[in-house]
Amino acid sequence: MCGISGYAIYGASESIQAILNTLFDGLQRLEYRGYDSAGVCVDAPASEGSGTGPLVIKHQAGPGVPAARLAPRRPVPRGQLGKISDLRVRAAEVFEENGFDGEARVSAHVGIGHTRWATHGPPSAVNSHPHVSGANGEFVVVHNGIISNYATLKPFLEKHGAVFVSETDTEVIPHLCEYLWQKRGGRITLPKLAMEVCSRLEGAFALLIKSARYPNELVACKQGSPLVYGIKHDPQGGIRVWLSSDSAALLTHTRDIVVLEDGDVLHIDPHGHPQIFNALALTTNTLAARADVEGLAVVREERKVEAEGGYDHYMQKEIHEQPKTLAETMRGRVIIGKPLQPLASGAANVMLSGHALEPSAAGAALAAAAAAGGGEGGFALPPGRRAGGKGAAAARATGLAAAAAAPLTAAGAKSPSPGRLPAPSPSLSPSPGGYAASDFGGAASDFEEPYIRLGGLADYVEGILRCRRIVFIACGTSFHACLAARATLEEFAAMPVVVELAGDFMDREAPVFRDDTCVFVSQSGETADTLRALEYAKNKGALCVGITNTVGSAISNATHCGVHLNCGYEIGVASTKAYTSQIVALTMVALLLGADRRSMTAKRLDHVRALAALPDAVRGALALDADMRELAAQLKDASDLLFFGRGYNYSTALEAALKAGGRGGGGRRLGGRVKEVALIHSEGINAGEMKHGPLALVDENLPIIVIATMDAMHRKMESVIQQLLARSARLIILCNQARRAGGRGDVPCGGFGAGLWFRAPRLEAPGDVAMDAFAARGCSLIRVPRTVDALQPVVNVVPLQLLSYHLTTLRGFNVDQPRNLAKSVTVT
Ligand code: AGP
Ligand code: GLU
Repeated sequence: MCGISGYAIYGASESIQAILNTLFDGLQRLEYRGYDSAGVCVDAPASEGSGTGPLVIKHQAGPGVPAARLAPRRPVPRGQLGKISDLRVRAAEVFEENGFDGEARVSAHVGIGHTRWATHGPPSAVNSHPHVSGANGEFVVVHNGIISNYATLKPFLEKHGAVFVSETDTEVIPHLCEYLWQKRGGRITLPKLAMEVCSRLEGAFALLIKSARYPNELVACKQGSPLVYGIKHDPQGGIRVWLSSDSAALLTHTRDIVVLEDGDVLHIDPHGHPQIFNALALTTNTLAARADVEGLAVVREERKVEAEGGYDHYMQKEIHEQPKTLAETMRGRVIIGKPLQPLASGAANVMLSGHALEPSAAGAALAAAAAAGGGEGGFALPPGRRAGGKGAAAARATGLAAAAAAPLTAAGAKSPSPGRLPAPSPSLSPSPGGYAASDFGGAASDFEEPYIRLGGLADYVEGILRCRRIVFIACGTSFHACLAARATLEEFAAMPVVVELAGDFMDREAPVFRDDTCVFVSQSGETADTLRALEYAKNKGALCVGITNTVGSAISNATHCGVHLNCGYEIGVASTKAYTSQIVALTMVALLLGADRRSMTAKRLDHVRALAALPDAVRGALALDADMRELAAQLKDASDLLFFGRGYNYSTALEAALKAGGRGGGGRRLGGRVKEVALIHSEGINAGEMKHGPLALVDENLPIIVIATMDAMHRKMESVIQQLLARSARLIILCNQARRAGGRGDVPCGGFGAGLWFRAPRLEAPGDVAMDAFAARGCSLIRVPRTVDALQPVVNVVPLQLLSYHLTTLRGFNVDQPRNLAKSVTVT
């Protein structure tokens, strides 16, 4: 994948340099998406001896590669090391060399830019975008994605006179534009031409096309890869249009964004008027036979997007905003019947403010959301629209409409009035500084109607429960989130749950059946391996559920139903807040699926309340920031790092290793995977496997982080620690905050079932004594707040994310753009 940036002005005087700066800024904000080379195209300012026309300026990372082609009649720029900042320098050189006046002003102009993540042809200046046809920039194209039929198109176009200079798939696009333009004798509008071109392209793409043949016009085409735009009219009548692969990159210009949909072709005419067409339903021939595109116009609504706060790095920002993003993931979905008391930190109020402070307003909002069908951010096709599995879908959906939203009483009976909140209970008195037993009442029966609402799944719950199994399919961190939630799903839904790496799943073409539910988990919603597995499972007739963070993404569009994470844009290539939100979303799905199991009622209520308390527990873990920085300083020169976990926290070990790691990946037995930001070789190891191999690695130098929080695996982890200490291992133990006899925990905790969990802080836990003993033997302790077992991975991963962040900055690496990685991997 890559980043596309476009900027067009109409009736608004700006210098070419200012236009270039806007393009560069836009690209800089997209560098996380791919950054092996970059390029822009603007109209060359007039200079002595040359007219204006599209001017392409490129650079690429890495020395000694072929020169770029520059249109028209320009000296050839050399390949350069670096990123967008170097492209700025290169642009200044090109202007200087050609005697261009960067301050020359224009009143109508179209500029396009691209930061590449190479798929076809190595990173090089000649392969970097924009790609052009003709000597004068007749058609200039930037492209995100893959043209899968380029190998067929290329010889065809060559036969018709096209001269290719790059190894990319992209270059067929400008040549195809030129070919069709010639074929129509130039009597074709730019949007019609673009639609005809797109109808001949296969694969996933987002394109911007600028052309010397259509001065000051622009087309933007979306088919599979993301593309958004925003427009502003200034009071003097000027119009400015920004286009990008990611709305976050437009936030400095506008918060009113239009998200293009598959098949859309946005045309900006020479006066700055935008119009969107869509010919997805038409065949190439039908489209070609039409005289114009007028009947194909479609309307896409403008959306408001949120602005962001300020941190040194996106990864840091995203780690620290987790209390808020988790609350957002749960907003309107975790419904605690009784109003919560205000917390010192305000965490629960962030999440459930409507409940705590304005019950009737919240009730109205929920009722409205219920009426709108999933207003809290899910997505669902009408069951009848399921491809490949109509009969099964219809059967699954029978009589289910209310199941997903029906509140449960403590006894598990459905409430007759979903979405209505009970009045605040006068029996609850505020507790100073955090939750205590009285915050929630003393026993499960005191709670009124806590429940989970997931509007996007409303029509599908019973269908899922009727399936033979649930198959989770994901990549990277999203895969780890599935592993973390697997046991919760197994327990609450009482169904077999399988977790698959999307790539491996497709390598095997693993069996999928019509009575499977396949859940596709993806932050971006665009990951090609996951998307491919989705198409495959859909063709087999499985019910396909999406868990994504990106509204309008390919996965959320292609699944039958699903849940949006709602945790806001994740910009850092290292996934942090999306991971914790994924675990929470999957936990909510588990609780929803288990909503009718009476035997699970007490435990389910514990979990709903633990979800409500989770933002505060995560806030407690974030308080370890300074400690993690200190630990990072101690570990920064380590060449290897191991993470041991088991049960729910095997996933935490894998995720921490992925975040910290870098060089190489371990063998399968060690659970090693692609490593990410801090570039230390690291492995996440299932502690149950320790004796089957990894123990041989242990000595007094190798730092090992052992996750031994107070969950069902605690005893086993204690014995793992004993065995490691017997081999003089250098241990850092991640455990829970100590609970001292007679005292009260300062954070919510629980996990041992049936309405008693909040009383646990009053007891001294044997595990705390053991941890004290380990500390006395030289182990470092990272103490985190306690929650239920199923959610403990959410809390546990936070200090490890912080550790990874600090290791990376202390080691001097780029946190937000780890080398060789891109945010969305849109190639298989
Ligand atoms: C995580 O830090 C990585 N960026 C990577 O493993 C990522 O989780 C993976 O590529 C899957 O991405 P997705 O969630 O957008 O599908
Ligand atoms: N397939 C194109 C190329 O390799 C575009 C890749 C991208 O999305 O950056 O140039």
